[in-house]
Amino acid sequence: MRTDPLSFLGTELDSLRQQGLYRSLRVLQGRQEATSCFDGRKVVNLSSNNYLGLTTHPDLAARAVKAIEEFGVGSGSVRSIAGTMAIHMELERRLAAFKKTEAVVVFQSGFAANAGTVAAILTKDDVIISDELNHASIIDGCRLSKAAIKIFPHKNVDAARKILQDLPAAQRKLLITDGVFSMDGDLGSLPGLCDLAEEFGCIMMVDDAHASGVFGKQGRGTIDHFGMHGRVDIQVGTLSKAMGALGGYVAGSRTLIEFLYHRARPFLFSTSHPPSVTATCLAALDILEHDPAIIERLWENTRFFKSGLQTLGFNTGLSESPITPVIAGEGSRAMKLSDGLFAEGVFAQGIAYPTVARDKARVRTIVTASHTRDELQYALDAFKKVGKELGLI
Ligand SMILES: Cc1ncc(COP(=O)(O)O)c(C=O)c1O
Repeated sequence: MRTDPLSFLGTELDSLRQQGLYRSLRVLQGRQEATSCFDGRKVVNLSSNNYLGLTTHPDLAARAVKAIEEFGVGSGSVRSIAGTMAIHMELERRLAAFKKTEAVVVFQSGFAANAGTVAAILTKDDVIISDELNHASIIDGCRLSKAAIKIFPHKNVDAARKILQDLPAAQRKLLITDGVFSMDGDLGSLPGLCDLAEEFGCIMMVDDAHASGVFGKQGRGTIDHFGMHGRVDIQVGTLSKAMGALGGYVAGSRTLIEFLYHRARPFLFSTSHPPSVTATCLAALDILEHDPAIIERLWENTRFFKSGLQTLGFNTGLSESPITPVIAGEGSRAMKLSDGLFAEGVFAQGIAYPTVARDKARVRTIVTASHTRDELQYALDAFKKVGKELGLI
């Protein structure tokens, strides 16, 4: 009988089980909302990236249905062959105006936008200077590019400067940071890094996946929030989080975008969005532009919930955004906190190594504009009960 060549994977999974780090997928029955049904249990949902509650917005759903009726369910091709539809171009024009750049190219996901762009623009002769907590899609893009990778400690502009000082002036350099860090909810050091990029002639790139729809005027992101328009060469955004649908995009100069049309591999080798997804994103942009109250509600809820956790005595790190980590220490403790909360009717995902450092395991909470005060207070009460049981507060 043939021995299973993949049996080593089972051994790895057993080891995760022994460490209390094995996770089964929580299954959502029904809609992604502020209170949702996961694994048959109604829970206050603090685990989605649905910042503005747009996943179930009737205008977005109506536009998606209309687009299916008008254009069908699929684009039928990659963008560079027959899969560029007029509606794709309309979304790119609208996003470019929104981000105040010359042009935009949309990818199938934020992951594809980051990885595809970094890998396309750099070669083995170049160097990338990257924050240690940058997102996995940036890290993968860096590896795919084959450029040298220099990591600076989280948000440490002085350390980034020291790296740059030691590099040959003529070498092509990419300085790259998340706008909002997805596991900690703090902001990248944009002003300091933009200064460095200008001083050392670097390409400046910011991944604003968690900032688009959240920070800046009408949700334009951290570049707008910090007043950095014109100083960031490559802005990445996602359509999968605050925008409620799916996709990612790169905003920048017309030259950059046309280059990516020719060289970004996810653009060239993976089918474009179904028109319904694109229509949904256009409807989400309309909401951002015409309903500023929705972002204000997100921030009111953020202030209420974050200060509630801090008053209870939890370690919430240095978050400045609707992402608030509750740091529990080692992995099994974070998983116990997450499981205890779930039993109390609150879903806050536990996150452990390798996603975060071994001693900084946490549950990550994300409030949305559509949570009610009652839902958030309910969640705070559950945190208080389970946090006390585990000796975290
Ligand atoms: C910082 C950051 N960048 C990029 C992405 C990828 O975005 P998407 O989910 O659209 O692929 C994520 C999603 O987890 C993220 O947190």
